[in-house]
Amino acid sequence: MKHNFGAGPGILPQEVLKQAAEAVIDFNGTGLSLLEISHRSKEFEAVLDEAVQLVKELFSVPEGYSVLFLQGGASTQFALAPYNLLPSGGKAAYLETGVWANKALKEAKYFGEVEVIASSKESNFTYIPKDYTIPADAAYFHITSNNTIYGTQLQEFPKSPIPVVCDMSSDIFSRKVNVADFGLIYAGAQKNMGPAGVTLVIVKDDILGKVDRKIPAMFNYQTQIEGGSMYNTPPCFAIYVSMLTLRWLKAKGGVAAIEQENITKANALYNAIESNPFFKGVCAVEDRSHMNVCFVMENPELEKPFLKLCDERGIVGVKGHRSVGGFRASIYNALPLSSVLALIDVMQEFADSNK
Ligand SMILES: Cc1ncc(COP(=O)(O)O)c(C=O)c1O
Repeated sequence: MKHNFGAGPGILPQEVLKQAAEAVIDFNGTGLSLLEISHRSKEFEAVLDEAVQLVKELFSVPEGYSVLFLQGGASTQFALAPYNLLPSGGKAAYLETGVWANKALKEAKYFGEVEVIASSKESNFTYIPKDYTIPADAAYFHITSNNTIYGTQLQEFPKSPIPVVCDMSSDIFSRKVNVADFGLIYAGAQKNMGPAGVTLVIVKDDILGKVDRKIPAMFNYQTQIEGGSMYNTPPCFAIYVSMLTLRWLKAKGGVAAIEQENITKANALYNAIESNPFFKGVCAVEDRSHMNVCFVMENPELEKPFLKLCDERGIVGVKGHRSVGGFRASIYNALPLSSVLALIDVMQEFADSNK
């Protein structure tokens, strides 16, 4: 068994994978594969309904919000958010905390003015800027809750006079979130919620309908709400596996319980990095992510041999993103503490054998 620290698509619970594999052959005893039944069948409608209910329950989604399962990944939401929310001639505020935030704001420029109200670009995004004022005359304020590539995470969400739009792709369901603080939450499923191919959108209904442009049906949140995420054929299998993952999360005690586990895992790993003279962290301590732990070696020449030892010990996916280098251990919900402890052991073993 490998210890999967990959950044995404990321690790899924073993029991979810087993159930998903069974459903490919015979879905719930129907004698049909989940891949070959109608999305309008009562069996699949039950899957979608349960997925929506689980999102509402796990995140205590208040009244007045819609939960959608769409396609196109978080990158499509970079464009759909401004398409639906930014009036022509209006402006939107962005917090630039990394490549994904940057890609999001570039898309918004197609629809209106973009004001980057703070950025940590000058330090290669090793911290979260905190000293900024959110302009009350902007249509929304866009943030990225967890910066997958750099290993930084917003530990507190801003109190904002305008709707907050948040890309939660790499920490969705990893910690408690007050949905009422947001106008729009979106997340590609493939890190903490399911496989690639489906994107979760939680949108506050009353922020819609304020732009005057015409929006094609598939790109219009309102059409998707009215169609119950089934305006066209939805990504049935990805929704099913996401539903199973959400069920798994609920059975574990929900978001509050997983948050504690995630804190334990992250603290263990950061402590090991700090106490091992061969390694060092790269981000501001107060902004360190509980999902993607980025670190480098004091001596960069030892990075290759360390990766080799990881490989030999079944530790996979720890190579850092090409724009940052070093290492990145993604410790998503489904990664057990035992895997983190295995990585810590390998770090110690490496240090002992290179003294
Ligand atoms: C924070 C964040 N946003 C957006 C994306 C892009 O997501 P997608 O590939 O679903 O478009 C990623 C992918 O890694 C991400 O980590």
